[in-house]
Amino acid sequence: VTTDDTDAERAFDALVRDLDAAMVVVTTAAEGERSGCLVGFHSQCGIEPRRYAVWLSRINHTFGLAGRAHTFAVHLLDEGDTDLAELFGGRSGDELDKFSRCTWAPGPDGVPMLAGVRAGFVGRRVSFTDVGADHHCLVLDPVNAWRDGDPSRMLTLRGAHGIEAGHPE
Ligand SMILES: Cc1cc2nc3c(=O)[nH]c(=O)nc-3n(C[C@H](O)[C@H](O)[C@H](O)COP(=O)(O)O)c2cc1C
Repeated sequence: VTTDDTDAERAFDALVRDLDAAMVVVTTAAEGERSGCLVGFHSQCGIEPRRYAVWLSRINHTFGLAGRAHTFAVHLLDEGDTDLAELFGGRSGDELDKFSRCTWAPGPDGVPMLAGVRAGFVGRRVSFTDVGADHHCLVLDPVNAWRDGDPSRMLTLRGAHGIEAGHPE
């Protein structure tokens, strides 16, 4: 949001804030490299077959690797997962190795699975599309979902609003 924004843009930003999207961390690996970032732009986008869309910013380190990767893990964060949200949303793989600062294990196709995250899924890339915006649309085929224990409160935009993106807009 800048001082140049129009009233219409500010009204749009306010209503999207009201949606209070859930926060997820998307990780991936290719050719021995790993990457991952906090994502608020994501949604199921197909029923039969099931499909899930994740939007990645062109400027992120994760974007560069995503173009070469086939398997992704989408981690659903709980309210208590603020350390992960800050690491993956507030820092960039261009400046540090996030995976040396958290606990993880290789999952299917070597995708990094973050320890202690209660729910999520692994998905394989179906498409990665430039729609003419600053984020590209990564569509995943969910192959393997996990959900441990009772659902607790998810971390949403409201809980993550203090995090300044590691790669600014
Ligand atoms: C609340 C919040 C939501 C975000 N949503 C997205 C998103 O939907 N897609 C995206 O590519 N980056 C999103 N980001 C930005 C990245 O998570 C952030 O710039 C990160 O540091 C990029 O890391 P990387 O350069 O290692 O990929 C979001 C950041 C925050 C704080």
